[in-house]
Amino acid sequence: MDKPRVFVTRKVDEAAIALLETVADVEVWPDYKAPSKGALLSNTKDVDGILANTEDRIDEDVLAVSNGRLKVVANMAVGFDNLDVNTATGLGIAMSNTPGVLTKTTAELGFALMMAVSRKIVAGDRDVRDGKWQNWHPSAYLGVDLAGSTLSVIGMGKIGFEFAKRAKAFEMRVLYHNRSPRKDIGEGFEYCGKLETALEQADFLCITTPLTKETHHFIGKAQLSLMKPASILINIARGAVVDNIALFEALKEGRIAGAGLDVTEPEPIPADHPLLTLANVVITPHIGSASQRTRRDMAVLAAQNIKARLSGEPMPSCVNPEAMTRKTQREKEEEFALYALGAELDEEE
Ligand code: DGY
Repeated sequence: MDKPRVFVTRKVDEAAIALLETVADVEVWPDYKAPSKGALLSNTKDVDGILANTEDRIDEDVLAVSNGRLKVVANMAVGFDNLDVNTATGLGIAMSNTPGVLTKTTAELGFALMMAVSRKIVAGDRDVRDGKWQNWHPSAYLGVDLAGSTLSVIGMGKIGFEFAKRAKAFEMRVLYHNRSPRKDIGEGFEYCGKLETALEQADFLCITTPLTKETHHFIGKAQLSLMKPASILINIARGAVVDNIALFEALKEGRIAGAGLDVTEPEPIPADHPLLTLANVVITPHIGSASQRTRRDMAVLAAQNIKARLSGEPMPSCVNPEAMTRKTQREKEEEFALYALGAELDEEE
């Protein structure tokens, strides 16, 4: 049988490649930019595994192009809204994400955004560079204190909880909205079963909920209209959880005071997007998990998932374990060929 083949859609840490090379021939897409759909299809025709990124749409076409050879797709991200998990499960293709390793790094970036917006750090820096800083003035660049303010976390998963713990250390009151209260997070985090309550009470709203069909534009015009005029919205989840046009209008009309976004819809956000005309918005280029250590750990975890699947071992973070109970088309064909050979040999005897 051929040695398995793996396609890696972007250059990643060498440690991950070295791990993959222990079980497969590995090809890495060399460009900084993601492969186009056509390039993705032509490079994954004969592969057993794909190490993908959030920008790669692993859809029906990609899942079908290997004619049953593909066994595993490892996403180098905790979010996996770019993967067609249902189709993959039906085809016996296992998929994985990278939970845990990026939790604190992403929460830290969210906190950095919250502080940048609340204390006008980016606007201030811009003025200093542009020579617009005239003098110290008692009412210049006035921001909002975190201490004593209320934070509402929307989606108290791993990242939401790390964010909330940091907020506690900054003496904030912390509310959270989830489908159900969390029993494992100790005292001091107030559960809001109603999204409306979390929105109405927030001085700061931090969105950490995954993007699903249910959370698409979860925060839109109606939700923003419940927030306080002085409140600030932080999004470190996925751009499409917030309706960015409704957000622009709320910010422009002063219905909320500011926003810090690490994610936008679309990405990259076009340079002429209306949100970029607003001084009270800070936008970073989807860098929640972008620390050297975390990106290495994400790549290695993705590689461990591929290695495990190709070696028939349990995957560390499979998102569709049901796929394991199904055979890929190629496995069925191989089994049939063996069976046919057996039958032929029996006849010859
Ligand atoms: C994730 O892990 O989902 C991040 O958004 C990628 O950095």
